[in-house]
Amino acid sequence: MVDNKALIVALDFDDIDSVLRLTDQLDPSLCRVKVGKQLFTRVGPSAVEQLVKLGFDVFLDLKFHDIPNTVANAVSAAADLGVWMTNVHASGGSSMMNAAREALVGRQNKPLLTAVTVLTSMAEADLAEVGFQGAALARVVALAKLTEKAGLDGVVCSAQEASELRKVVDPAFALVTPGIRLKGDAMGDQKRVVDPAAAIAAGANYLVMGRSITAATDPIAAIKRILSSLEPE
Ligand code: C5P
Repeated sequence: MVDNKALIVALDFDDIDSVLRLTDQLDPSLCRVKVGKQLFTRVGPSAVEQLVKLGFDVFLDLKFHDIPNTVANAVSAAADLGVWMTNVHASGGSSMMNAAREALVGRQNKPLLTAVTVLTSMAEADLAEVGFQGAALARVVALAKLTEKAGLDGVVCSAQEASELRKVVDPAFALVTPGIRLKGDAMGDQKRVVDPAAAIAAGANYLVMGRSITAATDPIAAIKRILSSLEPE
């Protein structure tokens, strides 16, 4: 089933004024927002707090990858900010993912905890360079299984892998897919890209979209175009 707020807008900006210029025009009941490394490093936790206060579901995308104790404490800090979702790198391993999950046990407003499998900017040649032979898909599937076994809520992957993943993971396991482009959009640094409707059809639950919206001359028109492309014909 398509989530009624499947679209997550990546707020990859340098300052809070640019964020608020866009979010002032956004309805928190129609989409979610993502705070990543750029905005968080420039502005800090107050950016998240402001967005939560405005009523947005915030995905804090800091892709934690460190020793289990450090990641557990970071995930706990993310939960204290009131975020809807946060994430780690699955390649940090099951001890790290278990520690992250345990850090959230007993919390009232528990954020969803997801794990990055293989970055959508990486193709086979990039993986080979860091010592992984073969297609991205095999690695994504292995990391998704590891993530599910560690009890996390889902993975971040390319929509190109979504239909294969849907065959091996629980239906409730969330697939969060960046690398989404409308036909005609610039690819930027992304390599494994899919259009929004095809991503949902392949089994993605959430679509992360940044530059197709933030770099558009009319970001709100771009969002409307994306949302209408997701409506059933
Ligand atoms: O601008 P674009 O739509 O490519 O933005 C994608 C967003 O998703 C960025 O904020 C990026 O950090 C994030 N992301 C990604 N690939 C992942 C996980 C997150 O591109 N595997």
